[in-house]
Amino acid sequence: MVEFALPKNSKPIEGKEWPKPEGATNTKAVKVYRWSPDDGQNPRIDTYHIDLDDCGPMVLDALIKIKNEVDSTLTFRRSCREGVCGSCAMNIDGTNTLACTKYIADAKNDLRIYPLPHQEVIKDLVPDQTHFFAQYREIEPWLKTDTPAPERERLQSPEDRAKVDGLWECVLCACCSTSCPSYWWNEDRYLGPAILLQAYRWLADSRDEATGERLDNLEDPFRLYRCHTIMNCTKTCPKHLNPAKAIASIKKMMVDRRL
Ligand code: SF4
Ligand code: SF4
Ligand code: FES
Repeated sequence: MVEFALPKNSKPIEGKEWPKPEGATNTKAVKVYRWSPDDGQNPRIDTYHIDLDDCGPMVLDALIKIKNEVDSTLTFRRSCREGVCGSCAMNIDGTNTLACTKYIADAKNDLRIYPLPHQEVIKDLVPDQTHFFAQYREIEPWLKTDTPAPERERLQSPEDRAKVDGLWECVLCACCSTSCPSYWWNEDRYLGPAILLQAYRWLADSRDEATGERLDNLEDPFRLYRCHTIMNCTKTCPKHLNPAKAIASIKKMMVDRRL
């Protein structure tokens, strides 16, 4: 039997427990993954206590409060605070999601916060997304046309416009791709659900004139066909999108063009 061994210094250890806020009667323990590339130490799980009566309702509010008032070394990404930039994606209580749209109250016990799985960690809750965005560039995510540009905009009927609903809302947070077992094992060659949903966003756009070329680029045993319809992606998407359905639609386009 094959045995896998993790590097010795990869196992998270119990970290520091920070003091409870003085006088607080309604507190929540927040356990956060900490790791720095600078000290050669194991990752550790630090415990913070937040006063729920003096904190916004979202997990991101708790992280910002900790960083501002308790431990300025805690590192995480965030920007918009309203679920549109995709930068605060992390694993909260075992599910990949956006910290700014996840309620603290959803955690019945201690709140547990880890970085997105199966991506290298740069520091604490910040994963390295270099490869993810390189894959995004590969699908050429812009409108491609051969016909001359009209004097005004390229028009689209309301019905055609509706075909990109459920696709344009994707914020490229990578929650879906990092929850996909096929992507865990083959991320070097499989594009994963987020990038394939984005690819379909352009295939479904009636104004785009590069459908054949786009399909040619995806026609590959790994880039598209590693999806085995496990559906983790759709289950986890914090924007309630359906990457698995988008992937199935691309596969159907592949079949249709052969008929
Ligand atoms: S449906 Fe496909 S893309 Fe989604 S989690 Fe499963 S294998 Fe991955
Ligand atoms: S499909 Fe959903 S989970 Fe995946 S990257 Fe887009 S918004 Fe994030
Ligand atoms: S901070 Fe922008 S999506 Fe959470």
